[in-house]
Amino acid sequence: MQIFGVDIGGSGIKGAPVDLDRGELAQERCKVLTPHPATPDGVAEGVRQVVQHFGWTGPVGLTFPGVVTDGSTIRTAANVDKSWIDTDARALFSERLDGLPVTVTNDADAAGVAEMRYGAGRGHRGTVIVLTLGTGIGSAVFVDGALVPNTELGHLELHGHDAEKKASSKAKEDEDLSWEHWAKRLQKYLAHLEMLFSPELFILGGGVSRKADKFLHLIHGIRAEIVPAQLQNNAGIVGAAMLAARDEQAA
Ligand code: BGC
Repeated sequence: MQIFGVDIGGSGIKGAPVDLDRGELAQERCKVLTPHPATPDGVAEGVRQVVQHFGWTGPVGLTFPGVVTDGSTIRTAANVDKSWIDTDARALFSERLDGLPVTVTNDADAAGVAEMRYGAGRGHRGTVIVLTLGTGIGSAVFVDGALVPNTELGHLELHGHDAEKKASSKAKEDEDLSWEHWAKRLQKYLAHLEMLFSPELFILGGGVSRKADKFLHLIHGIRAEIVPAQLQNNAGIVGAAMLAARDEQAA
């Protein structure tokens, strides 16, 4: 079965039809730049272009980088335009996509769902925490494979700041931190999460997951296993499509 997935990020809006039997993109993805400011109207136009590029007419799953309740209502907007807050995103996107059925999910939750089914979390029971280290830090918490949605662990406090302002990959870039320096912050953050949740496994996603060899060996004193995500750039697209498929089946 194929369902369309779209990942809305700080820099790009990326999408493709997803082959849900294999957990892979069925065609090469299409990307448009995220408008700045990233307002509902501008982002919806980008989404329309991506979906239209494939002439897609079926269900569409989308990710959003903030809290999303009931597959539709946006509750927070840390790294996008604040006018998103309280937007009925399902209505907005569905209207822009000529009435196609739409499901909207937090971006890290979507990426986590895909990692648990097709990637580094496959078959893992107990508590698993998937973190996406990008512009912000996204989190997806699983207990025996079931998602606890909208956990927002990137906003825990670290060094007196929002953790994502200190330990995201954007923080590494903005402050020009060495791998050693950044890994120290990440280690402190992971230790805090371990104290709160005692997970069996941390899965680290986002762009830096491709550079795991540069920093994983620098993280010490964490009892849980720490592994890089496997689906990398496409986890959000795949997870968004999986969640849209689930809603489609429930309808
Ligand atoms: C948002 C989360 C999101 C994460 C990654 C955070 O700032 O609050 O909802 O998952 O960034 O995009």
